[in-house]
Amino acid sequence: MTVLVTKKKGWIKERKNEYYYKKAKEENYRSRATYKLAQTITKYQFIKYGDVVVDLGAAPGGWIQSARKVVGKKGFVLGVDLKPIEPFVQLYIRTIVADMTEPATIDQIMSFLPRKADVVLSDMSPNISGVWGVDHARQIDLATKALETAKKIMRPNGNFFVKVFEGELLRDYTKMLQQNFEEVKLVKPPASRSKSSEMYLLALGLKSPETVSEGQS
Ligand SMILES: C[S@@+](CC[C@H](N)C(=O)[O-])C[C@H]1O[C@@H](n2cnc3c(N)ncnc32)[C@H](O)[C@@H]1O
Repeated sequence: MTVLVTKKKGWIKERKNEYYYKKAKEENYRSRATYKLAQTITKYQFIKYGDVVVDLGAAPGGWIQSARKVVGKKGFVLGVDLKPIEPFVQLYIRTIVADMTEPATIDQIMSFLPRKADVVLSDMSPNISGVWGVDHARQIDLATKALETAKKIMRPNGNFFVKVFEGELLRDYTKMLQQNFEEVKLVKPPASRSKSSEMYLLALGLKSPETVSEGQS
């Protein structure tokens, strides 16, 4: 009986995954990941019309597609990835090939922006080794790079949405976000596979450096 229930649950999950995969193909989205961002925007409204958005780890471009729908022509979306992203026809979308672990990338990003970003997104993931502790640590490393970048390229009161993997380093990372933002929420969008350890943190309202007390930044 338990075996049957477990199998059925597995089957339902697989079907759900398949559902987003198929939906993305039918609706001409570049990845099923697009729905993770779209669902979070719908729920929390943290990207607005006219916003400047920077998307770190953006290939193949599913999140760019979700973000651009909200920001429209008056906004701007810059996608950054180690891999080239197939160009978009819209003039308010730009993509660059760059490594977020290289300090020079921050200046490169700023040189493309019309003004400081309103929102920074990061769906960056390391190559998965299969060793849980290693992958978790690498993921938190990338999320830390994303936070450092956000603090430099984003205006005060801006919003930050970042992928993390569950694990022992998550608590300290969350604390770091809480010190730098007014509000932090843990988010697991319905389109994110329930069996995966991936989850997202939504940090709202970047504090200006003066309001972050020393030793906390
Ligand atoms: C899950 S995919 C992103 C999917 C994307 N959000 C979408 O909707 O299409 C993660 C991406 O992070 C990128 N990435 C990993 N490390 C990076 C780094 N150091 N700098 C820039 N991009 C990185 C990978 O190349 C990969 O394309």
